[in-house]
Amino acid sequence: MSLIQEIDFGTPRSKAEKTVTLTIDGVAVTVPEGTSVMRAAMEAGTQIPKLCATDMVEAFGSCRLCLVEIQGRAGTPASCTTPVAEGMVVHTQTERLKRLRKGVMELYISEHPLDCLTCSANGDCELQDMAGAVGLREVRYGYEGRRHPNPGIDSSNPYFTYEPSKCIVCSRCVRACEEVQGTFALTIAARGFDSVVSPSMAEPFLQSECVSCGACVQACPTATLNEKSVIDIGTPEHSVVTTCAYCGVGCAFKAEMRGEEVVRMLPYKDGKANRGHSCVKGRFAYGYATHKDRMLKPMIREKITDPWREVSWEEAINYAASEFKRIQAKYGGSSVGGITSSRCTNEETFLVQKLVRAAFGNNNVDTCARVCHSPTGYGLKTAYGTSAGTQDFDSVERADVIMIIGANPTDGHPVFASRMKKRLRQGAKLIILDPRRIDLVRTPHIEADYHLPLKPGTNVAVVTSLAHVVVTEGLVNEKFVGERCDWDEFQDWAAFVADKRHSPEEVEKVSGVPAELIRGAARLYATGGNGAIYYGLGVTEHSQGSTTVMAIANLAMATGNIGREGVGVNPLRGQNNVQGSCDMGSFPHEVSGYRHVSEDATRAMFEALWGRPLDEEPGLRIPNMIDAALDGSFKGLYIQGEDILQSDPNTQHMAAGLSAMECVVVQDLFLVETANYAHVFLPGSTFLEKNGTFTNAERRLQMVRKVMTPKNGYEDWQVTELLSNALGYPMHYNHPSEIMDEIAALTPTFAGVSYKKLDELGSVQWPCNAAAPDGTPVMHINGFVRGKGKFVITEYVATDEKIGPRYPLLLTTGRILSQYNVGAQTRRTANVIWHEEDVLEIHPHDAEQRGVRDGDWVKLTSRAGETTLRAVITERVAPGVVYTTFHHPTTQVNVVTTEFSDWATNCPEYKVTAVQVMPSNGPSEWQEEYEELSRQARRIAEPLIAAE
Ligand code: SF4
Ligand code: SF4
Ligand code: SF4
Ligand code: FES
Repeated sequence: MSLIQEIDFGTPRSKAEKTVTLTIDGVAVTVPEGTSVMRAAMEAGTQIPKLCATDMVEAFGSCRLCLVEIQGRAGTPASCTTPVAEGMVVHTQTERLKRLRKGVMELYISEHPLDCLTCSANGDCELQDMAGAVGLREVRYGYEGRRHPNPGIDSSNPYFTYEPSKCIVCSRCVRACEEVQGTFALTIAARGFDSVVSPSMAEPFLQSECVSCGACVQACPTATLNEKSVIDIGTPEHSVVTTCAYCGVGCAFKAEMRGEEVVRMLPYKDGKANRGHSCVKGRFAYGYATHKDRMLKPMIREKITDPWREVSWEEAINYAASEFKRIQAKYGGSSVGGITSSRCTNEETFLVQKLVRAAFGNNNVDTCARVCHSPTGYGLKTAYGTSAGTQDFDSVERADVIMIIGANPTDGHPVFASRMKKRLRQGAKLIILDPRRIDLVRTPHIEADYHLPLKPGTNVAVVTSLAHVVVTEGLVNEKFVGERCDWDEFQDWAAFVADKRHSPEEVEKVSGVPAELIRGAARLYATGGNGAIYYGLGVTEHSQGSTTVMAIANLAMATGNIGREGVGVNPLRGQNNVQGSCDMGSFPHEVSGYRHVSEDATRAMFEALWGRPLDEEPGLRIPNMIDAALDGSFKGLYIQGEDILQSDPNTQHMAAGLSAMECVVVQDLFLVETANYAHVFLPGSTFLEKNGTFTNAERRLQMVRKVMTPKNGYEDWQVTELLSNALGYPMHYNHPSEIMDEIAALTPTFAGVSYKKLDELGSVQWPCNAAAPDGTPVMHINGFVRGKGKFVITEYVATDEKIGPRYPLLLTTGRILSQYNVGAQTRRTANVIWHEEDVLEIHPHDAEQRGVRDGDWVKLTSRAGETTLRAVITERVAPGVVYTTFHHPTTQVNVVTTEFSDWATNCPEYKVTAVQVMPSNGPSEWQEEYEELSRQARRIAEPLIAAE
């Protein structure tokens, strides 16, 4: 294996369709108009020396190393800033050019410390490379340059260092932060020899506005900005392309390795979701894979009050299987079930649901999408016929109006947010529907045209009101609707939304959004060109989550914003493989490809291949499993990679349900909170230790490739296979590619997917089959998958969760950039430096009324429970609304969330809980007890935690 070297073309690719032909060093080359001479030369196989240029950012023209001669033009222009022209004749290697380039390099080197042999970038430094490329042999000015004195190294960032004495002031970092990341955290301060890269107002990186995406580190041609891991370990010696295991953006990375140790994760430029960019989690927060808390040995115990007993894999698997068999014999076939993981691969997820359906013989399988995007599946399937977003991420580059509803992309989907911000800086308009002032409302060089700060729980009212404006002001795209949608249903819907009760003036009364903002936003979306909607859990996690998804789908159809690039309805999926886990048949009513278990032909297909009859009745959803456990009819659960105790609502109810079971099997990386209720613990493997595929939010399947041996001994799919075999239902796969072949054989939308194709194309978006052999970037182009688009009546029904004198505030929850979900992974990385605890955001007015000061402990109570955390006073939340995250088990904010859920899918209503906030002296009694229990659990587990 060797290091994968990606070509740096020096300047970004031109997207022009018209081409231009020129001659470079006697070679004719044809490139798109707008291409730089530098890039054209690279395409022709000629590498022009460069320092300040890199193809991730626009050309800058400061180093003067890339000079060329152009026939008929005076002087020696910089090739990076000179666009090609038809018939142009370029020379890159004349004696004059060689002399000039040597002179430039002499000046650079005279100002650079000469510690190459001990420099962490030795062998991976463009300055070194360029000195060699121009044939520099002497430096006439000596080596005593003014930049030599080292003003000190900034090591404040946990992942990279900044060593100014090595800086050549090429500004690549500044431009990467601006153009790629869109944070604008860096500037070049001072002038001449005193020029220096300055984070924010000359602050250390950690205190600056930097969000640690690492784009500047990647762009830096020297060791000035360098990964600490490279400094510690040395330069990598081989690399493997794989996919991030954090969020639904699905960034592709080169895992750069030395032996089995990850030296660094470098975003892969060929990754079609991320185009060479990343966020702090994917690039830096992989250390959990080797954290000492990883559980590497299976354990069992008869009662959850017993201490764990470390056992062999064989004993653990046999014990789990015999328990499941005993339970089914005693309580019936439906008394057990399984939960698939949206963090595991498609292949692993597919096997867990196969185990449930074929080995357990029931449909009691569910997944964490139940608690996030199940309304997306229901809503989009109803309206359009497919349970997935309509676009690829590239589509945002053609959007003219971007509407974000209930999503916070800069924290939840940071790399896509950067791509979105780029489009917004180019002039696209922005509408945000969110109770909070999320970052995108106002961020460098971006200001939302409309921010509709709606009261939590009123999405349906506001989105239906947007439709009211569209219909009553004659903004419907009747041609689109007439050709593509069911006309009768449209007319019924149009009459419904036109009713006065949906007018902005009426809706203002329930939502708190000024009517003129609703009117303005609706007009902009309907008339501003390509309108693209992106939404998140702020839409789905409501009692009317599915209704809001359908209201959004209605709005897009009515305005013709569906079925081409630049438009669409796009759920921003939370976990890395939540799309995939749904696609793979993780729901109790659907097998892979969203086909209902009651369809005879579909079941027959599976039965023929699997050799077992399938139950035609839908099985239990997670909340039903817990209820059934409390009723005494559900007794055994196999949970792969999902911490339901912490992530699901109403923690006490969940704990009671789990406690009532007789065999809970948890397969995970760490002793997660749910493991406190487990009888069998099976160690899980990380994404670095397995092969498989993930499917991101744009339906894109990408390879996950093993870069190290599983520390626990098995990839997760192998553990499921062992369990199934022990249950008496044989599974024999030699490699996950064989599981994908089975998925393709059983799932029409995946019929054309294979590892061979993924290796060839890099990635593929489903549907991928005979009709679309290379996949489908944009859906519903020539018609909706279901035939005619369906308009659905979306009556607003206020949630039963009401504020009142006891609970006068509305709590809504979300996530933060540095942490991921329940934090099991990110809390075991240096990312904790940015978020050590969950805090409660509260408006100054509400804080003052309660005598709460910034940083005070406050007690958060609802009718479901209470927790205590610190307050942060901020105007990001409106009066009457409080907000927190759910990354830390010591806070367990889900003890206060309620049992209310989406009417169609049971997705919990996380986003609306009536609460009270009062000053407190410190953690609640249960939190102190929890801390003590955790300490005890650790003491019990400590001897079993294998040394790294
Ligand atoms: S790490 Fe990212 S956000 Fe921070 S300075 Fe570099 S490019 Fe900007
Ligand atoms: S820190 Fe690196 S990228 Fe930034 S100006 Fe200095 S040498 Fe260039
Ligand atoms: S944006 Fe998401 S997929 Fe990309 S690096 Fe960050 S966490 Fe990973
Ligand atoms: S690479 Fe062209 S001027 Fe620096």
